[in-house]
Amino acid sequence: MDNRNTNVNELEAAKQLEIINELKVSFEQEYEKTGKRKTYHIETFGCQMNSRDSEKISGILKQIGYVETDTENADFVLYNTCTVRENANNRVYGRLGYLGKLKKSHPGMLIALCGCMMQEAQTVEKIKTSYRFVDIIFGTHNIFKLAELLQTRLDSKRMVIDLWKNTDMIVESLPNDRKYSFKAGVNIMFGCNNFCSYCIVPYVRGRERSREAQDILDEIKGLATDGVVEIMLLGQNVNSYGKNLETPMSFAQLLIEIEKIEGIERIRFMTSHPKDLSDDLIDVMKNSKKICKHLHLPVQSGSSRLLKLMNRRYTKESYLELVEKIKAAVPDISLTTDIIVGFPGETEEDFLETMDVVKKVGYDSAFTFIYSKRTGTPAATMEDQVEEPVAMERFDRLLKEVQLSSAKSAGKDEHTVLKVLVEEVNSQDPNLLTGRLSNNLLVHFPGESELIGKIVEVYLAESKGFYYMGKLI
Ligand code: SAH
Ligand code: SF4
Ligand code: F3S
Repeated sequence: MDNRNTNVNELEAAKQLEIINELKVSFEQEYEKTGKRKTYHIETFGCQMNSRDSEKISGILKQIGYVETDTENADFVLYNTCTVRENANNRVYGRLGYLGKLKKSHPGMLIALCGCMMQEAQTVEKIKTSYRFVDIIFGTHNIFKLAELLQTRLDSKRMVIDLWKNTDMIVESLPNDRKYSFKAGVNIMFGCNNFCSYCIVPYVRGRERSREAQDILDEIKGLATDGVVEIMLLGQNVNSYGKNLETPMSFAQLLIEIEKIEGIERIRFMTSHPKDLSDDLIDVMKNSKKICKHLHLPVQSGSSRLLKLMNRRYTKESYLELVEKIKAAVPDISLTTDIIVGFPGETEEDFLETMDVVKKVGYDSAFTFIYSKRTGTPAATMEDQVEEPVAMERFDRLLKEVQLSSAKSAGKDEHTVLKVLVEEVNSQDPNLLTGRLSNNLLVHFPGESELIGKIVEVYLAESKGFYYMGKLI
């Protein structure tokens, strides 16, 4: 990003902070009159990108003077939406109907919709005609403007819609509200340039933009000072980080710099695209003391023919070679993946290739999806869309194969002592703590809540398949 852009971004941040302060003053005056703080509630649909965006939204609202509440019976309700598959959209419409009724019994309630679904013109048209009770609509590129949009809505009493098709802006240093005190997601890049033929993300998240390395490092240093020990670097394709920076920097180089930050004990990242995973990165992972022994490496399909149609730019063979290289360099790595069944034109043979990859790689777990047609993507108009019952039947077979594969890899660390980051008191048994291993598996063990946020050594006494029962050492 050049200097001109940096200036524009700084000016924008200053403008937004000024509006936040104006709102804060008027909210404080209202509080003095009523004795009541206004409440907000965010419902987040979708991926970690959206969760991270919701933290930014939360940060702005808390700064204004809102307090968070865990029900939708709030003064300001926001839905941060996802459109990656049709059922993500359906969930939003379902909830929105209920919210409309709730609004009638809650005078002054404001409703905002944001996130990926709002980047689609047909969705916004539908909201404008059928869901008139929505107050504010914004998208994925202008979250930093929330205070301004809220101010406009409060002044105008009309539906406020602000949608940007794309942006090259990255507005730093606005308020932030993190969900956990000890672990944090950090955006390293936004958008996606890959245009996998089934995927809507490049259309709703715009072109790939990397954050300046210094901004990322400063943020992580700040997090470490605040007591954060684990960070998750976020991007749709982290392996192509830095390519569009004025001084290009590779993801592997960025990791080396992050590794040096004192206080950070664990580094995770997602998502890795197989086509961009470099030998340098494998080397860095091999030599790192902090990068977790877990790699999420979406394969999508095991058929080279379908991978080509999907525009993934690798083959079954090159994917398997990559997996072997990684396993050789980091023998205790846990591999997970995403798989789509029922992509247009998928034959039984194609599907069996996918089953074969699952058998050969031995994933610890896999997210499996039935292909969902997304309007505007190349795959939506491809011939031979697979009939639903066929896709369902393949999906069930795939799930069984994935379960076999995770059952095999589960329990391989039984009777060993490993480091665990303690995350919370167990939700079912208050005498137990729940923590996470480097490979992302959960461990439950007896302990006191003071240990939350600490990394402790735990003896893995018993494997229960997807988790361990352990004993503090
Ligand atoms: N950037 C990440 C994935 C983001 S979307 C990557 O490239 O791996 C998360 C997952 O949703 C994808 O990996 C894919 O498996 C799935 N997905 C995306 N579009 C889909 C569609 N149209 N139908 C079904 N699954 C889809
Ligand atoms: Fe979608 Fe492909 Fe980009 Fe992932 S890499 S977000 S699947 S287009
Ligand atoms: Fe969904 Fe947008 Fe993430 S479409 S998966 S929330 S990038």
